[in-house]
Order: sequence, then structure tokens, then C-alpha cells
Amino acid sequence: MHQISHPSILYFGTPVVLLSTVNADGTYNLAPISSVFWLGWRCMIGISAFSKTTENLLRTGECVLNLPSVDEVGAVNRLALTTGSNPVPAGKQQKGYRFEPNKFATAGLTPLPSDIVRPARARECPVHMEAQLVSTHPLSDEDPQQRGRIITLELKIVRIHLDDRILMEGKPDHIDPDKWRPLIMSFQQFYGLGEQIHTSTLARIPEELYQTPDRDRATRA
Ligand SMILES: Cc1cc2nc3c(=O)[nH]c(=O)nc-3n(C[C@H](O)[C@H](O)[C@H](O)COP(=O)(O)O)c2cc1C
Repeated sequence: MHQISHPSILYFGTPVVLLSTVNADGTYNLAPISSVFWLGWRCMIGISAFSKTTENLLRTGECVLNLPSVDEVGAVNRLALTTGSNPVPAGKQQKGYRFEPNKFATAGLTPLPSDIVRPARARECPVHMEAQLVSTHPLSDEDPQQRGRIITLELKIVRIHLDDRILMEGKPDHIDPDKWRPLIMSFQQFYGLGEQIHTSTLARIPEELYQTPDRDRATRA
């Protein structure tokens, strides 16, 4: 039996990303998001128009996508209900958010210089992706009531740094999914992935066949 249902949110489970950006005064902001999907060396993120991260990304055109593993869940949770915006936007005040100017310290994460973009990486996260903003797309633009509240941003990855511990033995360009335990947000709760549950027919395709010009153009050092 299925019931017609009206859930308020449709967060069925996506990986958490810690987005690092540079504030106008040169300090760093760091914020969790989980509305993200990946295509080649690009990704789309969905983000509130009223976030400091959005303001910074639109102004500077760059960010670092830090992917926490399940081990960094405490750091992610310490960033919940914080914003780098001062004053706190009305909608966030209502939800209990507070202004937090030093998000790396709040999270207990260590800023690490990036190679190509200005925002810092978060050392403790096993995956760092330096990225540049390519385009913006409005969400719910046809509805005057919702227009302008959420935007989606296309980001191009220009450099990837991976912790040795998640790599396949002797294969620096391959992540071993048995070693990588992404942090998943599902309906506002934190989860990890379980063990592999089935052999995958799709996995017969060698990863190399998914190469895109973005990857080939990215410099290696
Ligand atoms: C686990 C988690 C996932 C989140 N996912 C999103 C998201 O996908 N998009 C979004 O706009 N906000 C998301 N948020 C809320 C933002 O973190 C929040 O808007 C925050 O104030 C942004 O920080 P900033 O204003 O300093 O940029 C999420 C928060 C948490 C804790």
C-alpha cells in the first residue's frame, strides 16, 4: 500500500559538503550543504540566496568543496545553525541560527591553503575540491512567492586533493569505495553508507571512459 503524502522536505539522502569561501575582509567562511550532484568534473549545488556562502561565491567566483567522512560528523554538527552573515537574516533568526565569524574554529577544523583558489581547504576532510563558479540558475523562478530564495550554482572543479587512505592501492586516480565513507544527510539526520550490497553491472564500464575535457585540462601540480 502507498499513501498520498505531503512531506515538508524531500531530503532522501545526499552527501554532506563543507563549502569554504572567502569573506570580503579576507577571512574564511565554512558552511555545510547537502543539495549537490556531480557530473564529470562539475557539480550543481542548491543554496539559499540568503547565505554568506552564496554572497561570497557570487562575489569571488570560487570555493573549495570539502567532503567530510563519517569521522567528521562532529565538526559538521558544530556548524549547524550558524551563519557568517551579520545580522542573521530574518528567516534564519526564526530557525535559531546565530552569527559565527570563525567557522573553522567553531568546527574544530584546520584551514589549509589551496593551490588555485583563495578559500582554504579543511585539512581533516579526506576530499578537497577546488572549484570555480561557472553559472547560476534560479530555482522556482516561475512562482512570485518563492522566486529569489534559492539558487543553483554550477561549479567547475579545477583541482582535487585526496587523502591517501581512500585511494586504491597503487592507483592515485581511483577512489576505493570500500575505503570511502561519506557522511550522508537524510531528512536532517546524519548517516553513513553500509557495506556494498550487490555487484554492479554499471561498474563493468572502466572509469576512464567517463573522462571529460575538464579533467584533462586540470593541471597536476
Ligand atoms: C547537514 C546540513 C546540510 C545542509 N544543506 C543545505 C543545503 O543543501 N543548502 C542550503 O542552502 N543550506 C543547507 N544547510 C544550511 C546551511 O548550512 C545554512 O544556511 C548556513 O547558515 C549557511 O552558512 P553561511 O550563511 O555562513 O553561508 C545545511 C545545513 C546542514 C547542517
